[in-house]
Amino acid sequence: MRFAGQVAIVTGAAGGIGLATAQRFAAEGATVALVDHDSDALAATAAQIQGDTMQVVCDVGDEGQVAAAVEQVLRRFGRLDVVVNNAGLMMFRPIEALSGADWNQVLRVDLLGAFYFIKQGFLHMPPGSAIVNVASVHALKTEPNVAPYAAAKAALLSLTRSAAIEGIPKGIRVNAILPGAVDTPMLWNNPQVKSGTEHLDAAEVGKPAEVAAAIAFLASSEASFIQGASLLVDGGRLCQL
Ligand SMILES: NC(=O)c1ccc[n+]([C@@H]2O[C@H](COP(=O)([O-])OP(=O)(O)OC[C@H]3O[C@@H](n4cnc5c(N)ncnc54)[C@H](O)[C@@H]3O)[C@@H](O)[C@H]2O)c1
Repeated sequence: MRFAGQVAIVTGAAGGIGLATAQRFAAEGATVALVDHDSDALAATAAQIQGDTMQVVCDVGDEGQVAAAVEQVLRRFGRLDVVVNNAGLMMFRPIEALSGADWNQVLRVDLLGAFYFIKQGFLHMPPGSAIVNVASVHALKTEPNVAPYAAAKAALLSLTRSAAIEGIPKGIRVNAILPGAVDTPMLWNNPQVKSGTEHLDAAEVGKPAEVAAAIAFLASSEASFIQGASLLVDGGRLCQL
């Protein structure tokens, strides 16, 4: 029970990796605040988690809503030990069809959402706390038609390093994971996967629980000397020529 007595926020908790992560933290003793903007899916998720949970409907791309969400968690549970910045979205459009508004739509969730929670974490989390940012292999290598997503995830790794440096004197660790293809709605809704343009062998697709295990490790005291790291969790996909 690595998280007994701790309170964890998981964003994007209503599905996929976020749900698996919330289940993992709850199974290891944490009280889990499930944050998502989809209230119906969030209620369905909460029913799938055994343990002490709280549902918080919040658009992570809205700084005021993030501050209010953290305040709600602190009012209810009195502490915050772990934040997992997992909420994310992808957009599929070639560069010549993208507008500034499109970029803002992706960056506000995939990059600024993490920043808003890191800011609140730095204001409220005690020494010994941990933040894990869910980036993507797209931060390192990418494909056509996902420029804002790839850029947001690359910037999230940079933000992870900046926050890690500033987190040292506060005793707050900040790390990132880079999942490869994971069996979630985001993967199967990807039009490039659906059409076969992006080919995936079964061995290249991980389970949400395998990503959750890596997140839980980085958030736990077992990773006490790991700060500012970016951990690939992709079954070796990026190693191949
Ligand atoms: N599935 C993959 O293959 C894969 C690969 C690499 C990285 N990732 C990353 O993992 C994370 C989780 O992805 P997933 O595959 O579980 O996706 P998913 O689409 O299954 O889940 C994403 C969740 O984020 C929520 N969300 C979206 N916008 C939000 C907002 N503005 N405010 C609050 N919640 C919001 C959605 O409602 C959803 O519950 C994302 O950051 C994604 O970029 C996924």
